[in-house]
Amino acid sequence: MATNNRKHGTALLYDLISQARSFPDAIVLGRGDPDFDTPPHIIDAAEMAMRERGNHYTPPEGILSLRQVIARRVKEVNGIEVDAATEVVVTNGGQEALFLMVLATIASGEEMIVPEPNYNTYNDALTFVGGIQVPVPTYARNDFRVTPEQVREAISERTRAVLLVSPNNPTAGVIPPADVHAFVRLAADHDLLILADDIYDLFVYDDFEHCSPASLPGGKERTLTVNALSKAYAMTGWRLGWIVGPEDLMAHVKQLKAAITGGTSIISQYAAVAALEGPQEPMLAMREAYVRRRRIVLDALDEMGMRYGLPKGGQFVYADITPTGYSSAELAEKILQEQHVLVYPGSAFSEAREQYLRMTFLQPEEKLREGLQRMKLAMKSIMGSLTR
Ligand SMILES: Cc1ncc(COP(=O)(O)O)c(C=O)c1O
Repeated sequence: MATNNRKHGTALLYDLISQARSFPDAIVLGRGDPDFDTPPHIIDAAEMAMRERGNHYTPPEGILSLRQVIARRVKEVNGIEVDAATEVVVTNGGQEALFLMVLATIASGEEMIVPEPNYNTYNDALTFVGGIQVPVPTYARNDFRVTPEQVREAISERTRAVLLVSPNNPTAGVIPPADVHAFVRLAADHDLLILADDIYDLFVYDDFEHCSPASLPGGKERTLTVNALSKAYAMTGWRLGWIVGPEDLMAHVKQLKAAITGGTSIISQYAAVAALEGPQEPMLAMREAYVRRRRIVLDALDEMGMRYGLPKGGQFVYADITPTGYSSAELAEKILQEQHVLVYPGSAFSEAREQYLRMTFLQPEEKLREGLQRMKLAMKSIMGSLTR
């Protein structure tokens, strides 16, 4: 039964997830939740924290040892220099990080320029603070690149910040280093903040180089950067993320964090120290698996004759469904009902540019192939019925 035409955003996704649960053989190629187990040394650290320290509050900004580890991580991986004492706040996952970031920087009536489509919680957070989303459209034909020229044209007197998410979700579009330089210069010229989301920074492919705006001259003082362990260490349920940025803005973030949730779970914080300081091989093995799975998904889409933006990063592909004539919600529902495969409709991320499906590669290869095979059958029947 088609019930989704009126739903959009997060409500639509939860509706589809609940439908998928009713099929015992459902294959989920929509949700951004890695199939891997959290590496055992991280679980051991959590267990020890539970036994030895788990019953106490931590400072709202997180335990100092974790903040020091995060400061080292962002220096080594992202080239961002921060003071662990004053410029790092540990959060409940990337979700709280991005919400606090928006809350701390955007006032009612102020505008934030965002590449569109984007991760829908940014819009939710902006709506909450009374901010205005100024979308800059991106398209499959140039791999969902957002250009400095587009952003320049979108700047108005009310612009407060530019959102840079690279790799982006749901499009997997990336921002090349030369463009990051241009965005930082643009932000400096117009005295704007940059809100950077680096959650997929370790997942870039084909020799693409991730570049964090806060690592560039003139970048750090105007940039808040969020990240989380969720995707990189298969820890979505552990709820551990962070924000780093200049001391004045971080003081405000810290105040909000204290008022809203207080310190993040001490158990997850000690686990995070182990994740970031311990062996990185499990994370690297996951990354290798994503490289292989990405190929499998792209080959299957080629066989289906579907166009997509080449994902140079992230854990998903955004495929163009224009030729089917269906809305993305209708098509996702049809594939789910006919073949029990859950893919996410573009309308959950952008109503204006909704003619896409997001497919993640977060299933073991065998299951991924089975899901894609079923999706091929669904697409064949859909395209066949169009040509009859
Ligand atoms: C771009 C982006 N930022 C933030 C988040 C939230 O991260 P977390 O799962 O750690 O709350 C996600 C989750 O999918 C995301 O894709």
